[in-house]
Amino acid sequence: MKIKNICCIGAGYVGGPTMAVIAQKCPSVDVTVVDINEKRIAAWNDPDVENIPIYEPGLSDIVKEARDRNLFFSTDVNAAIDKADMIFISVNTPTKTYGIGKGMAADLKWIELCARQIAEVAKNDKIIVEKSTLPVRTAAALKDILDNTGNGVKFQILSNPEFLAEGTAVEDLKKPDRVLIGGDIDTPEGKEAMEALVNIYASWVPKENILTTNVWSSELSKLTANAFLAQRVSSINAMSELCEKTGADVNEVAKAVGMDSRVGPKFLKASVGFGGSCFQKDILNLVYIAKTFGLNEVADYWEQVIIMNDHQKRRFAANIVKTLYNTVSGKKIAILGWAFKKDTNDTRESAAIYVTDYLLNEQAEVVVYDPKVNSEQVYADLEYLCTHSNEEIRERVKVVTSAEEACKDAHAIAVLTEWDEFKELDWKEVYENMLKPAFLFDGRRLLNRKTKEDIGFEFYAIGS
Ligand code: NAD
Ligand code: UDX
Repeated sequence: MKIKNICCIGAGYVGGPTMAVIAQKCPSVDVTVVDINEKRIAAWNDPDVENIPIYEPGLSDIVKEARDRNLFFSTDVNAAIDKADMIFISVNTPTKTYGIGKGMAADLKWIELCARQIAEVAKNDKIIVEKSTLPVRTAAALKDILDNTGNGVKFQILSNPEFLAEGTAVEDLKKPDRVLIGGDIDTPEGKEAMEALVNIYASWVPKENILTTNVWSSELSKLTANAFLAQRVSSINAMSELCEKTGADVNEVAKAVGMDSRVGPKFLKASVGFGGSCFQKDILNLVYIAKTFGLNEVADYWEQVIIMNDHQKRRFAANIVKTLYNTVSGKKIAILGWAFKKDTNDTRESAAIYVTDYLLNEQAEVVVYDPKVNSEQVYADLEYLCTHSNEEIRERVKVVTSAEEACKDAHAIAVLTEWDEFKELDWKEVYENMLKPAFLFDGRRLLNRKTKEDIGFEFYAIGS
């Protein structure tokens, strides 16, 4: 079966970049990305491609090449569903904030809405692809809804989790370590649907990197992959605290451990704690699933990864307060970096939010600078926590447009995102414009200790 029309529901961090790359690599396939968020779609259609709503290196060039050729962005969800042979569901699946499973389970409300809309609109057979990260066995629920509410047409459901990381999305999509496709391997229709999706990816991904499995393995592999990755960060972060007590250096430990080919060098960078929309949400979801099966030891094991991460954020903030003579009340603290990692404008679950909240509890005056995040986003992130009033947040937190401005007259600086530009700052000038002693807290192991201490900074870095 040859796919001619693809629809993707959800024009977010995954749907947008993924479909842009599919459209670029498969010029004979029409790809329409739809969303209920009109502002987001308008931004994807902005004549100036630099204004697309998601910042990812290399993405605007691809959009420029494919948009209005075979890549379209629209709010007309029904029309796109109707036209498509294959529909990707790439909507958000955040942690539930209410009811059973509150604070742990994935909220599948938007997934179900998509399924019901597809069932209502579809007038011919379609392949439905789960692109969102979902609890294992969600495909069964989707099938139930589609088969029982549809117009008698046939649906094949595939799981095709996305492994891209933000900041390197385009690179990851163009050269994925693997593409995972789960489907009904026991029926000819299931195999045919899987083959159709394999053929899309095979336009640019070597066949040996396209893995096909049963649908449950595919769904569970995504949660497992994120749990393993986050576990590595929590493991090295746990060691970072021990390094600080013993004179060991976490970078040296990570290098020594990572040179063992069985461990490998990647994802062993100690930090102020992992953020992003996926790790915490997906591990909590895994913990919840394990609990629902009565697997309490499995649940506790994975929950510890989150407990360690929360501890890391808290202890970083607590160390700022302790080092500044046990009070930051009324003191100006500069926060460099608000995004959860460099090269993205995404701030979801960013460590900076929690560190700032902690400092606000201590009545600090916080000045934030991030090259890709605007003030409204910073305020929205803090307001979402509901720990301080909107008035207090706007009074105590200022967002500025340069690192130099943020650091001027500050008592301390905290580097919370590893943006390259922070390495290149004129640190001598920054130092001269600060109050003394000038404290510098490196939550990313971005800066060179010796050169900063030579300038005169009181320097603190995670893990040494
Ligand atoms: P996002 O919030 O950026 O985008 C989701 C979009 O779906 C939103 O724009 C929303 O308006 C839209 N939407 C929701 N319900 C809709 C509906 N019924 N009809 C039309 N549009 C609808 O989310 P994201 O970061 O792109 O993540 C999407 C999924 O991919 C999640 O399940 C996430 O876990 C998974 N994932 C994310 C990443 C990542 O790096 N962000 C990586 C891999 C997997
Ligand atoms: C993650 C997964 O990597 C990706 O495969 C999945 O599809 C989505 O979730 P993402 O959250 O975008 O991607 O970024 P990632 O590079 O994994 O970083 C997550 C967080 O961990 C960031 O806050 C990052 O700074 C932190 N991190 C990562 C560390 O602190 N140390 C490391 O060694 C690696």
